Amino acid sequence: MTPLEELLAERIRRYGPIPFADFMRECLYHPVHGYYSKAESQRFADYYTSVDVHPIFGRLLARKFGQMWEQLDRPTEFLLVEVGAGVGRLAGHVLDFCKARLPEFYWALRYVAVERSASRREQAASRLERHATAGRLRIAAEIAAQIPAGCIFSNELIDALAVHRMVMREGVLQEICVGCDNEEFVDVVATVSTCAINEYFATQGITLYEGQHAEAGLEACDWITEIGRRIARGFVLTVDYGHRAAELFDERHMRGTLLAYREHCVSEDFYASPGEQDLTAHVNFTALETWGRRSGLETATLTSQTAFLLALGEANEFADLYDPGQNEAEQIRARLQLKTLIHPEGMGERFQVLLQRKGLGGRLR
Ligand SMILES: C[S@@+](CC[C@H](N)C(=O)[O-])C[C@H]1O[C@@H](n2cnc3c(N)ncnc32)[C@H](O)[C@@H]1O
Repeated sequence: MTPLEELLAERIRRYGPIPFADFMRECLYHPVHGYYSKAESQRFADYYTSVDVHPIFGRLLARKFGQMWEQLDRPTEFLLVEVGAGVGRLAGHVLDFCKARLPEFYWALRYVAVERSASRREQAASRLERHATAGRLRIAAEIAAQIPAGCIFSNELIDALAVHRMVMREGVLQEICVGCDNEEFVDVVATVSTCAINEYFATQGITLYEGQHAEAGLEACDWITEIGRRIARGFVLTVDYGHRAAELFDERHMRGTLLAYREHCVSEDFYASPGEQDLTAHVNFTALETWGRRSGLETATLTSQTAFLLALGEANEFADLYDPGQNEAEQIRARLQLKTLIHPEGMGERFQVLLQRKGLGGRLR
């Protein structure tokens, strides 16, 4: 048994089955034993994100943020808040590029790398020291209460927020909770733990098929509503894999989308080694749009990562891909890495980019 397994089993034995969202939150974010609370060196063993493929991902995002700054009429302070910044790898790519290639924007930038995990914040602090010293970067555990002008963005954050597991049985929406039987975690089907779950599906006009499993991402709804409240003028940019609700809950997704990752192997064994494997569910972009509107966020675009990166890179034929002094072989390698990011069979079509905006009047994008 992992230490977390023992803690969770004890809690369930004492108080009864718990919603899967509570189980998942502990597995990922328990302050000592949670998967994301540990230092990041372990992480490459389980999965990698667009950030790990090539700095071009951050460089093109930097260009997008520079455009946003222009659209906001170049405020003297542009707050760029990255939520779920991990060890600061993406922040480094964005800031290095802004400093070298977009100097005016760099001097208006106040980059805030927000990360829940204390060990990752420490790793980010040493990686990004040069930008902190230049007054361009701050590392924080939470998002500021007020963001006058700027952008809040994330890459693969929402898929790592806790979800409730649901199943439709005999026409009734039920919740799959986590129980404990003979030292083993087991599914326990129960009535829904909160009416927010019924509201979640009703608001989106979704009725699950008989026997269908699905996730309800209530945490993502709370998250987007809250950040919409905090930003006065600017943008929210979310990069993640997922779909709009009509697709996410269609007959191709009868088993739901929750998956466990460990050492690059994927499984549906959600209860294996709590705290030592990653748990993720596809993002429901309709929910982000719907709950975002409640706090004034208007959808500008929802596009594939392919379309998003192509639109940014084509203007200069992806010149940002190369570093000064690179030889031919290194340039070829960089082009292959770019392909992974934009190719439909790589990350390009699996990942979506949602751009929301607030307080820009009738002016778009
Ligand atoms: C899947 S990782 C992605 C890391 C990084 N964005 C990347 O693309 O490589 C998700 C990260 O979000 C962090 N996280 C989750 N919820 C958070 C929250 N509410 N505030 C800040 N960070 C959070 C986790 O600790 C973890 O480092």
